[in-house]
Amino acid sequence: MLDQTAIAAALGEHYDLAPSPAAAERQSALYARMNRVISPADWAIHAPYVEAINRLKTERNAVILAHNYMTPQIYHGIADVVGDSLQLAIEATRVEADVIVQCGVHFMAETSKILNPAKTVLIPDMEAGCSLAESITPEGIAEMRRRYPGAPVVTYVNTSAAVKAASDICCTSSNAAQIVAGLEAQTVIMTPDKYLAQNVAKQVPEKNIVWYDGSCIVHEQFTAQELRDFRGWNPDTRIIAHPECPPDVVAEADFSGSTSGIIDYVTRELPEKALLVTECSMASNISDALPGVEFVGPCNMCPYMKKITLEKVLWSLHSMEGAVEVDPEVAEGARQAVQRMIDMSRRLSA
Ligand code: 13P
Ligand code: SF4
Repeated sequence: MLDQTAIAAALGEHYDLAPSPAAAERQSALYARMNRVISPADWAIHAPYVEAINRLKTERNAVILAHNYMTPQIYHGIADVVGDSLQLAIEATRVEADVIVQCGVHFMAETSKILNPAKTVLIPDMEAGCSLAESITPEGIAEMRRRYPGAPVVTYVNTSAAVKAASDICCTSSNAAQIVAGLEAQTVIMTPDKYLAQNVAKQVPEKNIVWYDGSCIVHEQFTAQELRDFRGWNPDTRIIAHPECPPDVVAEADFSGSTSGIIDYVTRELPEKALLVTECSMASNISDALPGVEFVGPCNMCPYMKKITLEKVLWSLHSMEGAVEVDPEVAEGARQAVQRMIDMSRRLSA
């Protein structure tokens, strides 16, 4: 892939990407979804990219699947589908377009490819990784199986295809407790997120859950003490935490759920003040739709998610570079683990 300067120069030869109040005006309906969090001057910078991407999407017969942690200009400006990991995986099974552009991290693009081997799946930055995915290899799964013979392995989707293929079933943050509770085995191995596993262990006390030693660099930074302090200063704040946070952090929260679970909770409850103990774009993406909710307190940025920018999305659609490939044998093993999760999740919530 070209470097940033070369990409900017190459794009400049094909598109007029200079800040444009006229483009901003033409795209004012999209801007209305994010005008509390993006200034008019910044929108004039983003709007030419948004127009070029949306035009190119039609020409390429492409669809953009975007995770809830994308910036507002991606989430509201160019995405066709937004959601948490489970929703994006399910939507990937329904895509009819020839090309999927995954605005998220690499494991999400790999999951889309596994579910759509015949389609082109592009990731705008191959280095958009994930600390959880990087924490474990198939050998790590084999080691857990040696330590706990016969126990099924439930692997978080935040992993490589090879790790999924070495596992029995996948889970996401929205169905982990359901999947673990639905298995017949008494002892269940959860990989690679130790905090998600410990949080599930509290929800499913009848199981003996053992875990691998991985963690999310974004969520492990929150502390129970900072939440207690925050609640002391702002007693009327609703605290909502992602289950990748340590269990003592989740214990301080009024609600814990996947990224979409968090959005649903705030939309339903409409608290006066909400502290989302997760990635910073979450509050930005929903604050225009919820003007009565004041989003307060600390949040952390995911450096991997933030590698995805409008410029890189435009480049991937223009050049068709960044296609994700998965070895067919590995893909088939991983597909089975993901499909088992989707089927079990559907069955249990029917
Ligand atoms: P969700 O499945 O809740 O969207 O989580 C994905 C993720 O990477 C959170 O850090
Ligand atoms: Fe991975 Fe954490 Fe970033 Fe999610 S927030 S992609 S789990 S590093």
